[in-house]
Amino acid sequence: MKALVYHGPGQKSWDEVPDPTVSEPTDVIVQIDTTTICGTDLHILKGDVPAVTPGRLLGHEAVATVVATGSAVNSLAEGDRILVPAITSCGRCANCKRAMPSHCLTVGGVGWIFGHLIDGTQAEYTRVPYAETSVHRLPSGVTDVQALFLADILPTGYEVGIRNGQVKPGDTVAVVGAGPVGLAAIMTAGLHGASRVVAIDKVASRLEHAKQFGAGYTINADDDVDAALAELTDGQGVDVAIEAVGVPETFETCARIVRPGGVIANIGVHGAPATLHLEELWIKNITITTGLVDTVTVPMLLSLVRDGRLPAEMFGTHEFALGAILDAYDVFANAGEHNALKVVLKR
Ligand SMILES: NC(=O)c1ccc[n+]([C@@H]2O[C@H](COP(=O)([O-])OP(=O)(O)OC[C@H]3O[C@@H](n4cnc5c(N)ncnc54)[C@H](O)[C@@H]3O)[C@@H](O)[C@H]2O)c1
Ligand SMILES: [Zn+2]
Ligand SMILES: [Zn+2]
Repeated sequence: MKALVYHGPGQKSWDEVPDPTVSEPTDVIVQIDTTTICGTDLHILKGDVPAVTPGRLLGHEAVATVVATGSAVNSLAEGDRILVPAITSCGRCANCKRAMPSHCLTVGGVGWIFGHLIDGTQAEYTRVPYAETSVHRLPSGVTDVQALFLADILPTGYEVGIRNGQVKPGDTVAVVGAGPVGLAAIMTAGLHGASRVVAIDKVASRLEHAKQFGAGYTINADDDVDAALAELTDGQGVDVAIEAVGVPETFETCARIVRPGGVIANIGVHGAPATLHLEELWIKNITITTGLVDTVTVPMLLSLVRDGRLPAEMFGTHEFALGAILDAYDVFANAGEHNALKVVLKR
């Protein structure tokens, strides 16, 4: 089969590689119908994730068809159309049992293994371990493209942003960073009754997208964010500040704009320490949350998509054949230039 192979920092190619085979009774083999590229894949290609070794097939998001099943698999069969989420769950370890498969102990303590510790989904076929406890069969009313964005970005924005942020009816929610993940938080803020959603980004086109995804207010990060939010909230600050960039500056922005008693929900993957101004925050009754997505809300999000409540397809701005994945990487890596959010790769 063909697959996108990581050959070390800065190097990737679309190569002929061996087909995957069932190696554990709990495995299934799937044909990839639709996959995409994540910002994390770009981090890997920069060499930021040393656990990814040369020869690894990348990708951790897919809609796929089951083509073979291991001997212990009873509830999935050849021909089933499934969502393969970014997180693998054994379903049995202590962390899976506490609904935290992001730290599944059986697969090594971090549930994100596709395109990281095992071969991923940017390929014609993929081996899916612990399939019965990890994947989701898709209802007929949900398209491949809609389901694809439930593999990672939608549950990330919702679980790590809105749910960890304890968003409540009537809340003012600020989302710092309007990339796909921040937009997913913006899109799902209404599920918890947020009344005002403010998007903050440096890029004007991202702020335009944010309006379409449900932000009633936008602020350019280069303007006076603190003053604009003080005016909007009568000097109080926002109820929930969601960090969706992953740099110290934006975490520190969240810490300044949150009201006393509010929540800072960090989503961004940080590579450098941010300063925690406890000398100001100690008296503010703030809650700070962090987390890796669990993807445990996928069934709920799928129901919302099926019933027309969540237009998940909005994230897909560019479409390519799977074999043109190198072109798709070029577009995604220069998203600003192409006004791109997510690329859709189809078999
Ligand atoms: N916690 C998790 O489980 C999880 C899962 C997936 C992704 N992530 C992380 O979430 C973050 C966002 O992901 P994404 O795919 O949307 O990334 P992205 O790079 O596509 O988007 C980031 C956005 O932030 C904006 N930005 C950059 N600097 C800014 C600044 N100083 N102020 C305001 N806006 C700024 C950019 O213009 C861009 O629109 C990344 O750090 C990613 O690694 C976390
Ligand atoms: Zn991802
Ligand atoms: Zn587990």
